[in-house]
Amino acid sequence: MIRTGGSEANWRLFFAAAPSAPVREQIGGAAAALAVMPGAELVARSNYHMTLAFIGEVSTAQVDVIRQIGARQYFTPFRIRFDAYDYWPKPQVIVAAARTVPAALEHLWQHLHADLETHGWALDRKRLRPHVTLSRKVEQPPMLPTFASFEWQVTEFSLMRSVRTSAMPAYTVVDAWPLLDTRDNT
Ligand code: 2AM
Repeated sequence: MIRTGGSEANWRLFFAAAPSAPVREQIGGAAAALAVMPGAELVARSNYHMTLAFIGEVSTAQVDVIRQIGARQYFTPFRIRFDAYDYWPKPQVIVAAARTVPAALEHLWQHLHADLETHGWALDRKRLRPHVTLSRKVEQPPMLPTFASFEWQVTEFSLMRSVRTSAMPAYTVVDAWPLLDTRDNT
């Protein structure tokens, strides 16, 4: 049993792809080009990720079930082009967005959500909108600069845990799996 600070803890989990160091640099460049806005917070570079499925709080007993769901996905690597800023007023974020969704990403997203739903997690499954959040607490629609596009070759995905220790959450990798060319799972 996992205990934090002497009491049993829930884990806040999500599946995501984490960028390589060069892609992290590109994302950082996109964030650095944003104008400084009062009250807004840039996401820490170490926290950059593309969410694949947000699960939320689960008991520690459920972590292994979710890990097994990750382990049973067999999908191919894909290249995704980030080509625009977006401002989303409801969550008050500015994101780096990919307008074109690669088929392999769509398949991985569909299967992760379907498997999670089969195991009882009713997720808020809307349209897949691939993005990396750059800035939070953006209360007003911002002026956005021209986006310097970049490509990201996604070769693995992870089960991540979010731990809030201070103002910013810290993300740790619970487990990670490669995307492999060896099996077609469409
Ligand atoms: P993001 O990918 O849009 O930045 C960990 O909490 C990550 O899961 C966050 O970075 C976040 O969004 C995503 N997330 C948090 N709450 C969510 C929710 N209710 N629905 C979808 N994704 C969420």
